[in-house]
Amino acid sequence: HKELTSFPKDFLWGSASAAYQVEGAWQEDGKGESVWDRFVRIPGKTFKGTNGDLAVDHYHRYKEDIALMKEQGLKAYRFSVAWTRIFPNGRGEVNQAGLAFYERLIDKLIENGIEPMLTLYHWDLPQALQDEYNGWESRQIIEDFTHYAETLFEAFRGKVHYWISLNEQNIFTSLGYLLAAHPPGVTDPKRMYEVNHIANLANASVINKYHELEMPGKIGPSFAYTPNYPIDSNPENVLAAENAEDLMANYWMDVYMWGKYPIAAMRFLEEKGWAPTIEAGDAELLESAKPDFLGINYYQTATNAFNPLDGVGAGKMNTTGKKGSSEETGVPGMYKKVENPFVERTNWDWEIDPEGLRIGLRRITSRYRMPVLITENGLGEYDKLTEDKQIHDDYRIHYLQSHVKAIKEAISDGAEVLGYCTWSYTDLLSWLNGYQKRYGFVYVDQDETQEGSLERYKKDSYYWYQKLIEENGKNL
Ligand code: BG6
Repeated sequence: HKELTSFPKDFLWGSASAAYQVEGAWQEDGKGESVWDRFVRIPGKTFKGTNGDLAVDHYHRYKEDIALMKEQGLKAYRFSVAWTRIFPNGRGEVNQAGLAFYERLIDKLIENGIEPMLTLYHWDLPQALQDEYNGWESRQIIEDFTHYAETLFEAFRGKVHYWISLNEQNIFTSLGYLLAAHPPGVTDPKRMYEVNHIANLANASVINKYHELEMPGKIGPSFAYTPNYPIDSNPENVLAAENAEDLMANYWMDVYMWGKYPIAAMRFLEEKGWAPTIEAGDAELLESAKPDFLGINYYQTATNAFNPLDGVGAGKMNTTGKKGSSEETGVPGMYKKVENPFVERTNWDWEIDPEGLRIGLRRITSRYRMPVLITENGLGEYDKLTEDKQIHDDYRIHYLQSHVKAIKEAISDGAEVLGYCTWSYTDLLSWLNGYQKRYGFVYVDQDETQEGSLERYKKDSYYWYQKLIEENGKNL
């Protein structure tokens, strides 16, 4: 075992959330309706019909939540802004009451020595823009998203130094337009790749705006990175893993970092008739935007095998493997997903693979030479509140500890990592899984009846992270 490099002194030990999953207050202070507010009301879309109307009431309890962060010693808190609080109809007049909420939240964090990390878009698109021009399907969104971002840049200049442009563009485009699991509930690969291209342009435009305004701080997207492995050394399977990495990872990361789509993946999409429409000026815009870091949400790896042209996934295209079902998924002619026999799985069938995080960080470092901010990593599990109000989540401690160790190893290998945000701070609403799948350091008494007391309780993992932060990750 080699000697490991220490974590940098100013390493950002953080934790994360997203507006729709924690805030509640869905109609308060002038907030407009988002596509999620609408989508969850369609019967059968979410677990037991849960919605974020109340969520864990962070909108009213943010002071209590920040007090818990402070006591724990948290250095950074990543949250998202609900676009519909700032522009209830997506554009037009600023809703000052909505802006004021985030101002209070940010000021409170700063007052407590916690670095705010602001995500501009965590999936809750204004419904008005969906109705008006089909949201991400129209290039009008580039201008509207940039204007919304600029409003926040100006409002929080000098207070917020870490900005995340889009959260998991690969997930919201795939689940929204291929798997119909997220709004707008479409299954059409051509539309998905068109939408994704427009999202790339919007992302580039916002990053350029940030730099044009000479904002003090850093901006980057957060990508849901699932590094790909081959099942074995059969060259056909190795090629399948390369195909998966190209189509499922580099297809986003290369665009963020280089402004270019990977060649083989683009060839494949062209042959299928799914390639996006590239207009004059698009390539220049994509290539001109340089993020300051790459945000990575890491949960698991994926293992791949050869998939013939008439193989798994023919006729549909379920590429993500994110849903954790035992259904076989793949892209015919490219790859199919198979079980990795060497790793364990969560109760939602997500593979537990800390080494995969080290591997992913090394790939990013070699390919892009770009600092990484880990914007999410965590374990969703059933937690049990004991009679004396404790939560013994040793499985979560084990998961997080092994991933922190993998980061330390990656840093020792030469990766530049700015910080680590666990998912999530408090328990919160899982988009599709209700409240049973918990991620937090802080247990919240809320469940599918949505009638919990909303009281907060510290889990064992809360104390574990407190100590880790205090020691700056020394004793792993
Ligand atoms: C990420 C999202 O994809 O994974 C989060 O950015 C989400 O918003 C998290 O909650 C966990 O996913 P799930 O489906 O387990 O809630």
